[in-house]
Amino acid sequence: MSRRTFLLSSAAAAFAQAPNERVGTAVIGTGNRGSYLLTSVIDQPDTRVAAICDLKPDRLDKAASAAGKDNPFTTKEWRRVIERKDVDAVYVATPPHLHAEMAIAALEAGKHVYCEKPIGVNARQVRDIVRAAKKSNKVFVAGQQMRSMSSLIAAVGKIHAGVIGEVYQIKAQRHASADLPHDGTSGDWYFDVSKSGGYLIEQSVHNLDLCNWAANMVPVKAVGFGSVMRYKGQPTGRTIFDNSNLVYEYANGAKMTFTQNVFHPRRLPNSNQMVYVYGEKGAADIMTTASVYFHDTATREEPLHTKPEEPKHAHTRMFFDLVKGTGTNRADWKVGATAALTAILGHDAMTRQRVVTMAELGVEL
Ligand SMILES: NC(=O)c1ccc[n+]([C@@H]2O[C@H](COP(=O)([O-])OP(=O)(O)OC[C@H]3O[C@@H](n4cnc5c(N)ncnc54)[C@H](O)[C@@H]3O)[C@@H](O)[C@H]2O)c1
Repeated sequence: MSRRTFLLSSAAAAFAQAPNERVGTAVIGTGNRGSYLLTSVIDQPDTRVAAICDLKPDRLDKAASAAGKDNPFTTKEWRRVIERKDVDAVYVATPPHLHAEMAIAALEAGKHVYCEKPIGVNARQVRDIVRAAKKSNKVFVAGQQMRSMSSLIAAVGKIHAGVIGEVYQIKAQRHASADLPHDGTSGDWYFDVSKSGGYLIEQSVHNLDLCNWAANMVPVKAVGFGSVMRYKGQPTGRTIFDNSNLVYEYANGAKMTFTQNVFHPRRLPNSNQMVYVYGEKGAADIMTTASVYFHDTATREEPLHTKPEEPKHAHTRMFFDLVKGTGTNRADWKVGATAALTAILGHDAMTRQRVVTMAELGVEL
């Protein structure tokens, strides 16, 4: 074994859990996403649900029944979960503005952390998570689960291998046909920009990350406009936009135009989510036809992938593999931070109504 391999493997072993040991896992926030993540944890052969936390008693009860075979500790005080010795790993699935405080406390208590996206709703929160993750020798995975989708791994791999050459421009969108339900289960935080960050930060963070991943770059600046057009004053006190219109610039001069809205009619013959990556040799349509189209008209289009199977709960599996000391982290703190910061950059550009640079956000990666 070379010295480098030895050092790397001993570093991995320093935080790895023994392969035959069940990983004591806690889920904080068992709402829509947290209850799905809980199922993904229960489905793993090498985990034990040690603790569950939610402020809402009905959700806590439902989650406790789902994990009944492990008889988890239940509480509405998240710090009590993090203090527990039988908790090795913590899932953070609370509303976005709470992620940083909870994830940092868990890392500082020596736990592995799976933190839902966006990892923070402002640059300060992202900076604090980055600092804590860099300091910790535990696993940190951001809930950017697109990074674990086999079809996207294959498509992006092909773009990185040069199928379209240098990236010149990206056109992407995340549209929906309606606003989130105003009286729905997430209505108590979603429409407050200080808690969710708004649609761009809370949802488009996935699509913006996909654009960056494909481009293999992170934007250096952004400009754009956002507003409320369809859902003015609904629900009462709303502080989030219902449409965002942005232009980002990458270091090589390539631009990404990105739109988000919640009034894309279902029957509009154009996919609500799309990413076109234009380059030197042609353009890749990642999300709709999953094909590459070439400038050279004599060359037929090529599929970006062969529709590979998508293993169930691939992102959660990656997390526990990492906890056991194997595999590669496809959504580490850097991915989580650059995804969140790209969305925050766009949001800041819209709210400040000027060009904002990534450097101004002041997060050292
Ligand atoms: N990766 C994805 O594709 C995906 C999909 C949906 C949601 N999410 C993310 O998951 C997170 C949760 O979203 P959701 O849709 O499940 O919201 P939700 O409102 O359904 O659930 C959030 C839960 O957190 C609980 N909670 C709030 N404050 C708490 C506290 N201090 N301590 C303990 N529990 C607390 C609430 O009671 C609620 O049950 C968000 O960050 C969201 O962006 C990710």
